[in-house]
Amino acid sequence: MTTGSISELMTEASRGPLLKGPILGIETSCDETAAAVVTPDGRVLSNVVASQSALHERFGGIVPELAARAHLETLPLVVVQALTEADITWDGLSALAVTQGPGLAGALLVGLTYAKALAYALDRPLIGVSHLEGHITSAWLGDPDFPRPAVVLVVSGGHTHLYRLNEDWSTELLGHTLDDAAGEAFDKAAQMLGLGYPGGPAIDRMAQHGNPEAIRFTRGCIKRKDLHFSFSGLKTALLYYLQDRGGPCTEQETKDIAASFQEAVVDVLVKKSFDAVRSTNVPALAVVGGVSANSWLRARLQAEAARQGVALALPPMQYCTDNAAMIALAGFITYSRGTWAHDPDDVKATLEV
Ligand code: KG4
Ligand code: ZN
Repeated sequence: MTTGSISELMTEASRGPLLKGPILGIETSCDETAAAVVTPDGRVLSNVVASQSALHERFGGIVPELAARAHLETLPLVVVQALTEADITWDGLSALAVTQGPGLAGALLVGLTYAKALAYALDRPLIGVSHLEGHITSAWLGDPDFPRPAVVLVVSGGHTHLYRLNEDWSTELLGHTLDDAAGEAFDKAAQMLGLGYPGGPAIDRMAQHGNPEAIRFTRGCIKRKDLHFSFSGLKTALLYYLQDRGGPCTEQETKDIAASFQEAVVDVLVKKSFDAVRSTNVPALAVVGGVSANSWLRARLQAEAARQGVALALPPMQYCTDNAAMIALAGFITYSRGTWAHDPDDVKATLEV
């Protein structure tokens, strides 16, 4: 098992030279336009995130074309703000890291094209980073000493994936959702309950004043021995529940439904995560991605980790949802492992996991 500062961790993972100066991370895979400057020892000098949620709210979800156009307008401003807050000039950057996928094609292309142009203009390496690897490494942004190997649950709007992260930062997929991601389920439930977009934070807030035992919703895959997930049955169960009930809900009923729905999602996430810890015999668990911001999930994970004596990493809130600090850190790691395309032209959008 490995522990140590981020730079030590990278030295251990290193097969090539290490970057000496700060790296600029760029993230445009979905509906946040983000840029961050991070030092080789993992210090975040700036972390700027421009959320587009107000833009997409009235459509009840993300409109890909609008997302791409908004990235185009906002990214240059966000990058300059990240450099200003970090008190660094273009010349002070040692490299650029950019999310190459998975994500919305148009949105990814804006970030990639911008980063390529900048890499050529500055004559710096361009490191293409997987959005998922970004989320995975976000746990180490908050806790550089967290051990590896570790089990990592990536739980976001697009993914519910369990990995074994090895000492050299390589990953093995242990399980994944067979249909919807947990964040997607939160967003759809919030939409059905008239709580707006994005739905996860709204359900989280309402659930704090609701009864989680008011309704017993289905827990997909909970009895299966494998490490897969399913949330589409839960979504349908909520739809039928609301249809059978008929008529508008009172404020308290909405809170009870939100709490019961959240309980069903959290039950499954907690059980499968600790099943993975047991089956891999790796007593360290990191839970990352937008849904890891959920207050009840965090509380349940902390209680279970303490009960089972398992080391737990939960990223600080600003690194749970999409951000570029995690992309910058993943960029350092990818560079030090030597697994990057050395010609910026070879950094292409990857749409699948
Ligand atoms: O990681 P992220 O920002 O973007 C993706 O890569 O998908 O995750 C966004 C997802 C959304 O589905 C959002 O509703 C969910 O994370 N989310 C939450 C909370 N905050 C964000 N879900 C539950 N509780 C929260 N507090
Ligand atoms: Zn994400």
